[in-house]
Amino acid sequence: MAMATLTMANLTAMIALLIAAATAASNAPAPAPVTGYTNHTVGGTVGWFFNSTTNTSATNYSAWAATQTFNLGDYLIFISISNTTVIQTYNETVYRNCTMDESEDGDTYQYDGGQNQFEKSLTVAVPLTIAGPNYYFSDADDGAQCQSGMAFEIQVNHGLGLPPYLNQPPPPPYLEPPGSDSAQFPPITLPQSPANSGFRAGASLTGVLCVSFFILFELLSVF
Ligand SMILES: *[C@@H]1O[C@H](CO)[C@@H](O)[C@H](O)[C@H]1NC(C)=O
Ligand SMILES: *[C@@H]1O[C@H](CO)[C@@H](O)[C@H](O)[C@H]1NC(C)=O
Ligand SMILES: *[C@@H]1O[C@H](CO)[C@@H](O)[C@H](O)[C@H]1NC(C)=O
Ligand SMILES: *[C@@H]1O[C@H](CO)[C@@H](O)[C@H](O)[C@H]1NC(C)=O
Ligand SMILES: *[C@@H]1O[C@H](CO)[C@@H](O)[C@H](O)[C@H]1NC(C)=O
Ligand SMILES: *[C@@H]1O[C@H](CO)[C@@H](O)[C@H](O)[C@H]1NC(C)=O
Ligand SMILES: *[C@@H]1O[C@H](CO)[C@@H](O)[C@H](O)[C@H]1NC(C)=O
Repeated sequence: MAMATLTMANLTAMIALLIAAATAASNAPAPAPVTGYTNHTVGGTVGWFFNSTTNTSATNYSAWAATQTFNLGDYLIFISISNTTVIQTYNETVYRNCTMDESEDGDTYQYDGGQNQFEKSLTVAVPLTIAGPNYYFSDADDGAQCQSGMAFEIQVNHGLGLPPYLNQPPPPPYLEPPGSDSAQFPPITLPQSPANSGFRAGASLTGVLCVSFFILFELLSVF
């Protein structure tokens, strides 16, 4: 009896261990759970700056991005001056080329701080609204800033998904307002619907079948 209890206890302990091991194994690679939305200040305390004397970016923005986890609904906060720009693209070709000259509608956005003078302070908040690769660069100095480090790529995870204030539903499909142009066109008369003739064919087929059964019945009753 004592032996059986011990075995049972061992078995229970073993199952518990197995479950713990399995849980640990399946949980190990999972990132920390996402509990909210984060504002990432690009470059950390250094910000988004380019030194035109040394021709270098203020920091390595790719290295900075590698320290962050990005999720839908987060913001990138670019703290800079108007000597730089903020271009967001989902098109890797546009990013690699350091110019938005040939970008297409809907794949590239320029965030304008509204400055038309150099060295004015510029803060740009860019919401992350599309999961997957997002690319950022400054296209100032005809792409020279971008070529010298003012560029980085991030991977946006789903996280909690978009919050309602960023998740605008698409507009409803366009409907012709009643009584605008419709009166100018006469109503269209459709030709006789084939469905009707199909129905008639069906009806007459039923009739034929009824007659056939009647004849069969009559024939059978003869014998
Ligand atoms: C993050 O930035 C956005 C855009 O500037 C702002 O509306 C929001 O309040 C900020 N959130 C936090 C937690 O600072
Ligand atoms: C650019 O770099 C030079 C040399 O390191 C430095 O003297 C200058 O202050 C920098 N300019 C800016 C705007 O940071
Ligand atoms: C910037 O950091 C990335 C990632 O850490 C690295 O691969 C790259 O070589 C760095 N670039 C420069 C110019 O140091
Ligand atoms: C900003 O750009 C102007 C015009 O190219 C230049 O004269 C100025 O030195 C730049 N300022 C910085 C801090 O790079
Ligand atoms: C790449 O950039 C150059 C200028 O730097 C431009 O002439 C060319 O059209 C661009 N190509 C694409 C595919 O954007
Ligand atoms: C990316 O942009 C280039 C032009 O710069 C265009 O030819 C290409 O089709 C775009 N790629 C995608 C996936 O939209
Ligand atoms: C800065 O670097 C870019 C890209 O490497 C280069 O095209 C440009 O000539 C350089 N400008 C200066 C002033 O060194």
